[in-house]
Amino acid sequence: MMNTYDRLNPFSSRIVDRYLLTKDGSTKKTYHLALSLDGSQISYQPGDSLAILPQNDPDDVDFFLKGVRCTGEEEIFDHRSKNTFSLRSYLLCKANLHRANHSFLRMLHERSSSPDLAELLLRENKPKLVEFLDNETPADLLNTFSKVLVSPQEIPSLLLPLLPRFYSIASSQRLFPNEVHLTVAAVSYTTNKGVQRHGVGTHFLCERALLEKTVVPLYIQPSHGFALPADSNASIILVGPGTGIAPYRAFLQERLSRKAPGRNWLFFGERNRSSDFYYEEFWLELQQQKRLHLDLAFSRDGAEKLYVQHNMWKQRKALWAWIEEGAYFYVCGDAKEMAKDVEATLQKIAASEGGLSDEDARRKIKEMRAEKRYLADVY
Ligand SMILES: Cc1cc2nc3c(=O)[nH]c(=O)nc-3n(C[C@H](O)[C@H](O)[C@H](O)COP(=O)(O)OP(=O)(O)OC[C@H]3O[C@@H](n4cnc5c(N)ncnc54)[C@H](O)[C@@H]3O)c2cc1C
Ligand SMILES: NC(=O)c1ccc[n+]([C@@H]2O[C@H](COP(=O)([O-])OP(=O)(O)OC[C@H]3O[C@@H](n4cnc5c(N)ncnc54)[C@H](OP(=O)(O)O)[C@@H]3O)[C@@H](O)[C@H]2O)c1
Repeated sequence: MMNTYDRLNPFSSRIVDRYLLTKDGSTKKTYHLALSLDGSQISYQPGDSLAILPQNDPDDVDFFLKGVRCTGEEEIFDHRSKNTFSLRSYLLCKANLHRANHSFLRMLHERSSSPDLAELLLRENKPKLVEFLDNETPADLLNTFSKVLVSPQEIPSLLLPLLPRFYSIASSQRLFPNEVHLTVAAVSYTTNKGVQRHGVGTHFLCERALLEKTVVPLYIQPSHGFALPADSNASIILVGPGTGIAPYRAFLQERLSRKAPGRNWLFFGERNRSSDFYYEEFWLELQQQKRLHLDLAFSRDGAEKLYVQHNMWKQRKALWAWIEEGAYFYVCGDAKEMAKDVEATLQKIAASEGGLSDEDARRKIKEMRAEKRYLADVY
């Protein structure tokens, strides 16, 4: 099968199943989603990601239209895609309505002569400018500087493009030939000005898109190396707190369906066991069948934080033995803190269990990366 779909020519899918993985009492909302690939001929491998082209919230579109005093019926030409759109559908599908850029601010400044904007646009005020842009959407600004006139045709060159969102695929196509599954954490937060905001992609996928009805444009983003070992006898160590667990569901489904004899070890972590143990039955059943070593770190159940890397350290002897016997090591999920801490812990284990100096331990991880035995998919 060939994948002929891409950002400019996505497949029109629909969500066929969606349910909360987090249970009552959870402090977050993480969803399982199944999207249809019927009629697409799309193929994917465990480790690949799915790219979704989301739509903005229609309320955000209406607020922007109010700011530019347009109806949405106006026809505009988009230079990026070289297509003509109604202004409403352009704002819905093509424009980043959450973040203004420099040209947008410069235009406002030139047309309003606002001294506040002049000060912000000075280079010395970079942190202030970033904070300002975190809080003020283009529509907020247009509604504040309401005397500024913007013509419909100018809009595409004033707004940033709406970019695809990527999600690790959480299913094996051997089990679900016409579906692709995702594990999506809904993003919602309150700005410094007290305004409640939702992430564009997750709000579209988790709340707004209607099951079986709303078109969800998508394409496959192949992984570059983050894949199961070709040798089905190889052992795999999977570290994936939070949504980082998604590709490992695909890995295990694939390995079970191929009856791969290699050993599997999962380090999962989330906030609370009673509400945030994603795909609990699947993992516990595999553990019971002795197909999976499972180490769980629920960070908010005890008096002190327990993270995946703390369990790695507790299990350092066995973990190092697996690595020395040729196991592949995977890490997936948060890039800002977790992935760095996990790498530092593995390095510490290499030093303590492998009897290596800090420098040699660092070199060991580097070698594993070069051999594609240390694989990361972090975001
Ligand atoms: C290869 C890859 C795989 C991924 N896999 C998954 C996956 O399996 N599951 C998953 O859920 N996600 C995954 N992601 C992340 C996903 O692509 C999106 O980035 C995420 O869903 C947020 O998108 P959004 O459109 O909802 O949010 P956006 O509209 O893009 O909003 C996010 C932005 O909101 C702002 N923001 C967010 N929180 C706060 C806050 N508390 N305070 C202030 N500002 C804030 C920040 O500016 C942030 O950049 C993956 C990313 C990559 C690159
Ligand atoms: N807006 C939202 O609602 C929201 C919520 C969560 C995450 N996010 C963002 O979405 C991305 C993915 O989040 P996610 O839902 O997959 O979960 P996540 O935020 O990565 O959290 C998953 C688990 O990892 C723990 N953790 C925190 N810091 C860690 C570290 N340094 N090392 C190891 N584990 C650590 C968390 O504990 P603690 O949280 O108890 O410290 C939690 O138990 C992250 O980049 C995060 O910033 C957004």
